[in-house]
Amino acid sequence: MAPKVLLSDKIESVCPEILGQAGIEAVEKSGLTPEALVAEIGQYDGLVVRSATTVTKEVLVAGKKGSLKIVGRAGAGLDNIDVQAAKELGIKVVNTPGQNANAVAELTIALAIVLARKLWVAFSSIKEGRWEKKGLVGSELSGKVLGLVGFGYVGKLVAKKAQGLDLEVWAYDPFVSAAELKESGALAKSLEEIWTGSDYISLHLPKTPETANIVNYEVLFKMKKGSYLINCARGGLVDEKALHQALVSGHLGGAALDVFAAEPPGDNPLLALPNFVATPHVGASSLEAQLNVAAEVAKLLVAFLSPKA
Ligand code: MLT
Repeated sequence: MAPKVLLSDKIESVCPEILGQAGIEAVEKSGLTPEALVAEIGQYDGLVVRSATTVTKEVLVAGKKGSLKIVGRAGAGLDNIDVQAAKELGIKVVNTPGQNANAVAELTIALAIVLARKLWVAFSSIKEGRWEKKGLVGSELSGKVLGLVGFGYVGKLVAKKAQGLDLEVWAYDPFVSAAELKESGALAKSLEEIWTGSDYISLHLPKTPETANIVNYEVLFKMKKGSYLINCARGGLVDEKALHQALVSGHLGGAALDVFAAEPPGDNPLLALPNFVATPHVGASSLEAQLNVAAEVAKLLVAFLSPKA
């Protein structure tokens, strides 16, 4: 019998096409309630999700009672999958790191420019009928220090693009060798040096128990006065209450978040601050990135479920 895969979130059609070409039946059903997912997951050999579906232990246990062998995430983060439970149950989990990295890196650079040139004020003031030229003197990125915390797929691409803008790039990543950092043109620095010496700090690391709230009150107030913070990686890396204090006090010049501890952020007080800009977790939301992750996750499932296809 042909293997069967459930696509429980909306995904680019290249994903079911690749699965179909390999003789795998792809069933597209987005918007299932958690109960409905538990009720039907046992019929499938594989499950593909983006961000909307939460793959809980309950889902995995129900899947294991049937034929579920693999869960694929079309994206980098695995926050919406109980990876530990999958491991205990012997269900493979795959993701597509790197496939949407360029989109996230481009958004990071865009937000740095938005912060440097106060563009969010420029955009809204002119539309509201004001010609605020005088209040909109910004600063240039050229010659400034960009400190990257995390130097994986996204961090490396941000470094490359930032160097093209004449930023001096500093980087910290305990999992990347000094040689690799040097080759990329970034200067290897300690975390302390990044916190205290950067004009811009951008986070490019996963959220784990070790990295949760890595940017806390102490870190924020040791950052250079007037410096900027950008987070397009994961919500929960920044202590948002402390960030609020750092922005209200004027210690930070500004901050830009694409990701929040709670998403959507509701009435998060950060949103009301004049030196805070935000986007709704759209780092990976480019057509190219969505095609890449959809194709890659399909190939990973084909390799696992129909290795001879
Ligand atoms: C990812 O994990 O790949 C990105 O954060 C994109 C997303 O979750 O939408």
